[in-house]
Amino acid sequence: MTNILCIGAGYVGGSTMPILASHCPEDRFVVVDINEARIAAWQSDQLPIYEPGLEEIVRQTRGKNLFFSTEINRHIAEAEIIFVSVNTPTKTFGHGAGRAADLQYWEKTARQILENSTSSKIVVEKSTLPVRTAEAMERILNSNGNGLHFDVLSNPEFLAEGTAVSDMQSPSRVLIGGRETESGRMAVGKLVDLYARWVPLERIITTNLWSSELSKLVANAFLAQRISSINSISALCEKTEADISEVANAIGLDQRIGRRFLQASVGFGGSCFKKDILNLVYLCEHYGLPEVARYWEQVVLMNEYQEARFAANMVASMFNTVAGKRIALFGVAFKANTSDTRESPALAVCRALLDERADIVITDPYALENACQDLKDLEGRITYEIDPYAASSNAHAIAILTEWSQYAQLDYQRIHQSMVKPAFLFDGRNLLDHQKLYQLGFNVYPIGKPPLTRLVNHGLTPA
Ligand code: UDX
Ligand code: UDX
Repeated sequence: MTNILCIGAGYVGGSTMPILASHCPEDRFVVVDINEARIAAWQSDQLPIYEPGLEEIVRQTRGKNLFFSTEINRHIAEAEIIFVSVNTPTKTFGHGAGRAADLQYWEKTARQILENSTSSKIVVEKSTLPVRTAEAMERILNSNGNGLHFDVLSNPEFLAEGTAVSDMQSPSRVLIGGRETESGRMAVGKLVDLYARWVPLERIITTNLWSSELSKLVANAFLAQRISSINSISALCEKTEADISEVANAIGLDQRIGRRFLQASVGFGGSCFKKDILNLVYLCEHYGLPEVARYWEQVVLMNEYQEARFAANMVASMFNTVAGKRIALFGVAFKANTSDTRESPALAVCRALLDERADIVITDPYALENACQDLKDLEGRITYEIDPYAASSNAHAIAILTEWSQYAQLDYQRIHQSMVKPAFLFDGRNLLDHQKLYQLGFNVYPIGKPPLTRLVNHGLTPA
């Protein structure tokens, strides 16, 4: 039996450890966190995150070989392998503010591991970190003078929220980076053995530490770049009457380009893309590569442009004023099947419309609580409404901001009847049947396609 600890019971730690525990029944897994409420939630029937399929796995493993606890020090002492998945947000202060990763929680955790260890351990970076962080970690951990040895490995997480369970059950690859020393290789071998219980060996790739750390940043940068690329073309489609879905299909059939991740949208969100690209930008600047930095920075700038463009198009289409108009935002989660709202484009659109003094009502099946926290500074200016029919009643416009499948199933005739006319629908995810909505009487504004409207000024943003 191996004692395995994970520090950080967030999305990453909380969704990976139950799955590891389910595949390694003879090992003991403990997930710890400084946040007592979060640990209590992991111990309860109401898990702190919504992730399809996770609840069942937690129920099967919790209390058998999976435990949640706030006793960090005790569990550090017992563990042989420690995964660290504490958050690494973008720095908000000092050198590199707005770009570099804030490593204070990571360093604090490393020192805590050192203080509470009485045996040698393997420490695994699960959090996304700047390249060469492992070097600093090794220095801290091995500065003990008490004869203990710590091997630092990098094992970045590639799972996407909403499909975390299936991503982890059948990963495209597991990446493990380690030192090319004898003890480094043995540590890598131990981690490979854990994953090999269910992942085919050819999908477990081992690299040097720096390649592993950098690959995580680069994977997210490439994925986000695809979205910014297709979104940039959506703007051109709106000016030329080309249709972004047709363009995406036409280019995606080229296998070198591929079909996935070409869905034009109001913008990408989530805790990782923006943060990781900014981190990459900072690293490039740090290593004296300003041209490379500017290249990747543009992916984030294009995303901000897309969010701003969407909100501006709403205002322009609605006769250049939304002041006092009720607008229903359908979806605030950064994508479907998650309650997560971090960096959600819906928040940016909401703020932009509030600046124009719109009367905003937000609906979402799972994310209202998080949205309420994110928009706390605007308390009293936003209505939260779980029922989309109630949210859209008396509204001038609906904006689809999250691609929840249930929004495609609603009775839009009933919704249209309850709205102020002319009724506007802005589909920031190209989720709905636009022709059908148009026939019901809506003025429909998709992303990257000509609007379907009976109004003379059909809302192309004025030049
Ligand atoms: C986070 C980062 O966002 C991501 O980049 C990284 O790859 C992994 O960690 P996530 O799990 O989604 O991902 O973050 P979050 O949900 O914020 O969870 C982090 C947890 O660590 C929180 O529950 C927090 O309370 C805990 N934590 C933080 C500690 O237990 N100790 C600390 O010192 C700091
Ligand atoms: C991402 C990576 O996919 C994952 O590998 C990494 O570990 C963490 O970051 P996640 O943020 O959970 O995962 O979601 P993802 O499915 O990648 O979507 C990110 C954002 O891009 C969402 O806002 C989504 O709506 C948007 N998106 C995605 C598009 O706008 N168009 C697309 O074609 C795909």
